[in-house]
Amino acid sequence: MRVGILGSGLMGGKLGTIFARAGHEVVFSYARSNEKLKRLARDAGSKARAGAPRDAAKDADALLLAVHWSRFDDVLAQAGDLSGKVILTCSLPMNASNTDLVVAHTSSGAEELAKKLPKARIVCAFNTIPSEVLFGVFEARRKAPRPSLVYCGDDSGSKAIAAELIRDVGFDPVDAGPLRIARYAEPFALLVAQLAYEGGGGPELAYRLERFGR
Ligand SMILES: NC(=O)c1ccc[n+]([C@@H]2O[C@H](COP(=O)([O-])OP(=O)(O)OC[C@H]3O[C@@H](n4cnc5c(N)ncnc54)[C@H](OP(=O)(O)O)[C@@H]3O)[C@@H](O)[C@H]2O)c1
Repeated sequence: MRVGILGSGLMGGKLGTIFARAGHEVVFSYARSNEKLKRLARDAGSKARAGAPRDAAKDADALLLAVHWSRFDDVLAQAGDLSGKVILTCSLPMNASNTDLVVAHTSSGAEELAKKLPKARIVCAFNTIPSEVLFGVFEARRKAPRPSLVYCGDDSGSKAIAAELIRDVGFDPVDAGPLRIARYAEPFALLVAQLAYEGGGGPELAYRLERFGR
């Protein structure tokens, strides 16, 4: 697939690198320096390149949105028309100090994104995992059991694309249902972050959802 990265920081930089190493064509975009985008592309290998958000969006089979909530409007304006695009958002609707969700319970960052882009096909994914574990999960992808990664969205075709990308990173994709379930996934992401950064366990935390008994 062609995967455009909108926001090439901790999440976008790592996931884009992993997607490229898994064989996808990746365009890194949206960082404060072009040099950084070029370095990411170089390190990710021959399948990756640097570009502007508009290049990342052009002909993309999927886009990863990985920016702070306060940057949404700016990056979307730079990406141009996203009608019909599959957008995986790992972004959380956090306040400026990254201490609280600014949208919860009755909506979510992913649903607000869908309102901004009614013709795009939004999937909420990758936000329940600390970026520090991504390379470790990718390296262990051939070992069972894989950690779980919940995702949700309203469009089955986009969700199939998301599930493939999630599997490529090394997770077991768990379909949590329609996009409104992001209301529960986004606060869950903060629980994971709390355990990872303040619970003493460290960011290498990943999780598995398993059935016990019948
Ligand atoms: N980090 C995690 O473990 C994690 C986990 C789950 C969900 N999330 C969510 O994922 C989203 C991205 O998080 P992140 O940790 O990847 O953030 P980040 O490292 O700060 O990445 C954000 C990207 O946006 C770029 N950016 C910021 N301001 C810009 C500007 N004025 N012009 C151009 N580019 C600009 C940054 O550029 P530079 O590269 O130049 O800084 C960076 O590439 C957030 O919504 C976060 O809540 C993060």
